[in-house]
Amino acid sequence: MALWAGRFSKEVDKTVNAFNSSIAFDARMYRQDIQGSIAHATMLGKCGIIEQSESEAIIAGLRNILDEIDNGTLIFDPNAEDIHMFIEAELTKRLGATGKRLHTARSRNDQVALDIRLYLRDEMQEVRKLVLTLAETICEIAQSHTDTIMPGYTHLQRAQPVTFAHHLLAYAQMLKRDCARLDDAVDRMNECPLGSGALAGTTYPIDRHMTAELLGFRQPVANSLDGVSDRDFCIEICCVLSILMTHLSRFSEEIILWCSWEFKFIELDDAYATGSSIMPQKKNPDVTELIRGKTGRVNGDLMTLLSMMKGLPLAYNKDMQEDKEAIFDAIDNTELCLKTFIPMLKTMRVLKENMRNAAARGFINATDCADYLVKKGMPFRDAYKITGTLVAECIRKNLTLETLPLEDYQSMTDLFTEDIYQAINLGTCVRERCSYGAPSPESVQEQLHELQDDLNWMKR
Ligand code: ARG
Repeated sequence: MALWAGRFSKEVDKTVNAFNSSIAFDARMYRQDIQGSIAHATMLGKCGIIEQSESEAIIAGLRNILDEIDNGTLIFDPNAEDIHMFIEAELTKRLGATGKRLHTARSRNDQVALDIRLYLRDEMQEVRKLVLTLAETICEIAQSHTDTIMPGYTHLQRAQPVTFAHHLLAYAQMLKRDCARLDDAVDRMNECPLGSGALAGTTYPIDRHMTAELLGFRQPVANSLDGVSDRDFCIEICCVLSILMTHLSRFSEEIILWCSWEFKFIELDDAYATGSSIMPQKKNPDVTELIRGKTGRVNGDLMTLLSMMKGLPLAYNKDMQEDKEAIFDAIDNTELCLKTFIPMLKTMRVLKENMRNAAARGFINATDCADYLVKKGMPFRDAYKITGTLVAECIRKNLTLETLPLEDYQSMTDLFTEDIYQAINLGTCVRERCSYGAPSPESVQEQLHELQDDLNWMKR
């Protein structure tokens, strides 16, 4: 018999019951639901809304339920409407009338708004840890590649020389921002909706500041309608995850390119690659491809949340039950991706020689050739034009700027002397790029130190 049988003259249709039920996916919030109920029961007792002895009995009962779910002796009832109803019903089964007092001055609307916040707060600690571990892993790899020259690209065309360390650290910087974004979102969410009631607060003398404090929130949500109505925190966290996944996806895309025969800049460890069922020669980067694919999925979760909320009048609407599967899916998949990506990165082999060879082709020192003339007094646009002509000459003669004879240089301008070869040497080109944030080994070392300081501070 349904809880609301008093108001109804018929049983709810079985298909509607099943359709309505969310326990299949919200059961994972049992710990947070019990945590919230313990705080609520504590407050009810302290404020004299229920007897102190009843408050204690409820709390002990909730703790037993938690232990039994944890150790697997209490199984969720798939017919329960949701996790909130399940735990309340279980408590009442055990305590009788006392159990029925727990829901005084509370609604499932403020209860669920609280549970998701608590769940997200816990889960984001885990995501945060993984993001920082990944950033640190990248720093470790970068440390041994400050001299590993590779081509930097624009439009996927070889552009200017960088180092592998410099390239990697670009991703570490993105991850640092992802972590900061996560902290911002979690901080904004840090207000307690409990006590908002169904929508309009309550007539009981509750103490919302007490429950907020007991649950580790900064303060109670200031408006009861807002407390039960908004899911902006889910949207914001999902957005943070989408951006994070976008970074992982771009990194993955590069790894996919790098382990192709066309690039061969890296080799994945056998434990993090897969073979083909028909082509015996294949070693496929499935992990990175899945990360790229799952990014679309997390973006989809964000769209689900935004679209689900956009037309809802205040306050609670059942549509909002749909928030959970979307945000849970985004969290599960992001964590899964991070957990797989980190060891894959740690074990991949860097093929320095191939990077260096790729850097030696494609005229990535052409800008340096133009800069050479500028340093000898020529305006940049003229130097740019002369260098372009020299590159065309090299292509015609199947030479590189390094192997083009000095006469060819001097036929363009007598500013060119023997030292041009030193100026366009790849080692020189990287070493001289020593502006703040640039790829020279010293600049990268400085970046690495600053970044590691920041990451250490963020780890607190
Ligand atoms: N299972 C519901 C949800 O996830 C809990 C809140 C239900 N409230 C209600 N008034 N029907 O949103």
